[in-house]
Parts: sequence; C-alpha cells; structure tokens
Amino acid sequence: RQEKTKFVIAFSQCVGDDAWRKTMLDEMKRELSFYPDIAFIYRDAEGDNELQKRQIRELLNEDIDLLIVSPNEAEPLTPIVDSVFQKNIPVVVTDRKTSSGLYNAYVGADNIAIGRLAGQYIAQETQNRGRIGIMTGLKGSSASMEREKGLRDFLTQVPLLNISARLQGDWEKQTAYLQAKQHIDALRDNDIILAFNDQMALGVRQALDESGPHDIKIIGVDALPGPDNGLEEITKGTLFASMLYPTGGTEAIRTAIAILEKKPYKRENILGTLVINKENAGLMALQSNKIQEQQEDIDKRQQLIIEQNEIYQSQKTTLNIVVAS
Ligand code: FRU
Repeated sequence: RQEKTKFVIAFSQCVGDDAWRKTMLDEMKRELSFYPDIAFIYRDAEGDNELQKRQIRELLNEDIDLLIVSPNEAEPLTPIVDSVFQKNIPVVVTDRKTSSGLYNAYVGADNIAIGRLAGQYIAQETQNRGRIGIMTGLKGSSASMEREKGLRDFLTQVPLLNISARLQGDWEKQTAYLQAKQHIDALRDNDIILAFNDQMALGVRQALDESGPHDIKIIGVDALPGPDNGLEEITKGTLFASMLYPTGGTEAIRTAIAILEKKPYKRENILGTLVINKENAGLMALQSNKIQEQQEDIDKRQQLIIEQNEIYQSQKTTLNIVVAS
C-alpha cells in the first residue's frame, strides 16, 4: 500500500466485456478520479462463478478496505461474499445479488419492478391479451430470476395474456440468437417477445428476421446509449422498447466512500427505471450525448489537474535541491 493511499476499494465484476459493464466501470473510474487517495483494484470474472470465487479469495489477501461485487450467479457466490462480510470488510452489492442478504449496501435498480413494468407495458400494448415469449438471462443470476418473478406476478392479474415460450439466452446476444434459431417456430407464435436484456433482444430480432417476415414486437432491458446499444436500436426501430436499467457505477463508488468515511449511507440504493420507446428514445439519446460531452470535459480537466500537480511536485523538488545546495 502506498503512503498516500487512505483506502483500497476492490471491485469484483461478474463479466467485463459488454458495453453495459464497460459503462459501469467508466462511471466508477470517473468518480474515483476525484479521490486520489483511494486505490482501486478491479477483477473481471468473465462470467465464470469459479473464477469469481477465486478472485474474491485473492482480493482478501490484498488488504482491501471494501468490496464492491456484482455476483455472476447468486447461490455459488454467496458463501465467499458472506465470508468477506463476516470478516468485517464492508460489502457493496451492485446490480446482481447473492442469496443471503449479507451486505452493507445494495446499489442498482429493482429487478422485480423492472419485470412488473415490462408486464404493464406489454399489457397496455396488447390490450391485455396475447402471447408473450421470453428470453431469460443466466439461470442463477438474481437479475434474471427477479425480472421473471416481477413479470409472472403481474401477469396473474391479466388472464388472457400469457407466457407461451420461454428460452434462456444467458444474457448473451449470440446465445439468444442460437436459442431463437433452434426454437424459431415456438418463438414466431408470439405477439411480443421480452428479452431480459437488449443484446439478447437483438439476437432474437436477427433470428426472427432471418426466418421470414413478421410483426412481432421485441422488447429488451437496459436502454444503454451508444452505437449498437438498446437506445439507438429503438430509434432505428429494430427494438420496440426497453426498460431503462442504469449501471449505477457512480452511485456504487459514492456509497463505498460514504461507508469508508463513516458517513451516513443507505442500505438499499434503488435506481429509477422507466419505459423507453420510440416516443422518448430520441430525447434520451440527446440527453445522454450531452452528459457524455460534459463528462469528457470533466475528464480533460481532471487530466490537466494531474499534469499541473506533477509539474508543481517536480518544481518543488528542484527548488528544494537548489535551496539545500
Ligand atoms: C450486462 C447485463 C445487462 C443486464 C445485467 C443483468 O452484463 O447482462 O445487460 O441488464 O447484466 O445483471
């Protein structure tokens, strides 16, 4: 640990290489850039439970002050995350959860509410009757289980609206595409398809398009800005709608720092969600471009401060040498 380091925050990410999680990490790094005395250790588990367990175990040997974790699947990751908590190292759980509830704070949207919101939107669009196909995420990940629960609970109130096909796409576009291809007849027999994230929705879209003309509405979750992501695909009309799922990177770091500095913080930090469709996607895209520009501006200023500081430090040492001689 370097002398100037006040705290070490470790972040164990379940998967690193998708756009949504890259955005989360960017947000975290930006927020951390305001705290030069906080060190950050990042581990990407590449969607592998065993690797994530091993990485967390290794992090425990690195004298960390707090762990932020997004567990790949709930059950397999629960014992190791619990053991961190039980060692009195604060735990901030983000996006996906473990199954024990042993954490200091959760940061993320309410995935049951997201499933319910999707159900409400589908009910509105289908006048309460029709057939829904769903493409779920990874079986044991809390976000998938909770989205499905929220949807199914809501549908019990709408007797003529039913789930008639259920496929599992493991959160991945390619897996969803292959699953959709394999069960294309069952999938085409629906009025609407809800994929539990936009990337899988795009995989479904591709498979349906390849199988002939159709007017099936495809809905996703995330509504992430940027090229080839959900928000843009809604403006293009490839996706019908998406439930906004904020990454919460900034909030996770703020919560972590509040815990470390012994300031007040909330245990449940529930980020808002809303339906994005072609009516509001354009406005959302404009706003997010604006924010992106402002953030790039902040990045530039931060970089300048760092450079100025380095110049100042080196001048100070030169000065000291001159004075000393
Ligand atoms: C990204 C992702 C998102 C999804 C979330 C669920 O890895 O698959 O698309 O909303 O994880 O945990």
